[in-house]
Amino acid sequence: MKTETPVEKLRRMHLLTIMTALFVVGLGAYTRLEHAGLGCPDWPKCYHNWFVHPQIATPALSINDTFKAWLEMIHRYAAGLLCIGILLLNIYRKNKDNTLILRFIALCTILQAAFGMWTVTWRLHPLAVMPHLIGGMTITALLTLDYRNQYASKRPILTTPTTITTCLRALMVVLWLQIILGGWTSANYAALVCPDFPTCQGKWGAPLHYFIQGFTAPFGFRTYEGGVLSGNGRIAIHIAHRFGAFICTVIMSWLITQVYQWRHQLTQQFIRKTQLLTVLFIVQIALGILNVVWTLPISTALLHNLVALGLLLQVIVLLTQKSQLSKVNHSHTPHFTRHVPTIN
Ligand code: HEM
Repeated sequence: MKTETPVEKLRRMHLLTIMTALFVVGLGAYTRLEHAGLGCPDWPKCYHNWFVHPQIATPALSINDTFKAWLEMIHRYAAGLLCIGILLLNIYRKNKDNTLILRFIALCTILQAAFGMWTVTWRLHPLAVMPHLIGGMTITALLTLDYRNQYASKRPILTTPTTITTCLRALMVVLWLQIILGGWTSANYAALVCPDFPTCQGKWGAPLHYFIQGFTAPFGFRTYEGGVLSGNGRIAIHIAHRFGAFICTVIMSWLITQVYQWRHQLTQQFIRKTQLLTVLFIVQIALGILNVVWTLPISTALLHNLVALGLLLQVIVLLTQKSQLSKVNHSHTPHFTRHVPTIN
């Protein structure tokens, strides 16, 4: 039987940590959608227990409340597993040159735990809920970036035009902004203020003061569950998220056009990965619209969250593939790859 080398073991551990991160993000979204964010009123224990025994602590708890407490605690245990994975990666990384990103991920994880705590102690304040969502995605994205840097194939095949790298970088930026806006939409319970699509309550836009209300953090409330912003503020948030989707679509279309134009210079693998990104993007837009017209079923809302993360990871995969290819010594590449057409 073939025994695993230390590098292979580390690689498997890294993959497992990424899988755990994906699970934690998905479970976190499910917990929020089931309104179980305050399933445990205390932190880090739940009803003063390290393990879920809510019935023991408070015998009057309903089955629904018990379910919410379980959900919240399973999310915390899974997050604990993720922390262990990240710690082990930090300890066992042999290549000492590439530890900076792992150290940064560890720092993000500590901050993420703090936001998890504030989500509970600040009673679902949007300034805790939204950064907690972004934090989960950031940790998963950085783990993936580090994995790609460590283990992705470095085969020198073809040169690739910088316009595609520029498109991918632009897409990365607008996707992050769009995810932040999405997080703000859900943290402020602004999903259902616009029941129609593409208009919102029959209108295409909103006056400036709606946006000021929507993007001013609320303070002084006992709890933020269900949202505390005015209806007008929520309309502005929702419209901003739709506008963000439009900007993302423009950049995505730019990328598709560029990849099509340069298709003869790109590897099949790269083209296939771009096709997957395109499919994910179309699915994400469809899920967003279904969130609205089907009045936010848990299944589509959960998928909308996970596909957003999938989009980020796929852009990272494409970007890391590109940066490795651009490091290639061109004297070793086949002759035809050096014939690069000029584009205006
Ligand atoms: C590239 C496009 C898009 C991305 C990356 C994106 C991303 C996100 C993210 C990350 C969230 C937060 C999810 C959560 O808290 O679990 C969100 C929420 C939301 N998005 Fe999008 N979105 C996109 C397009 C759209 C479109 C086109 C619509 C509809 C017109 C839409 C409607 C919504 C709604 C209603 C929510 C709130 C869901 C909730 O409260 O759970 N999204 N989006």
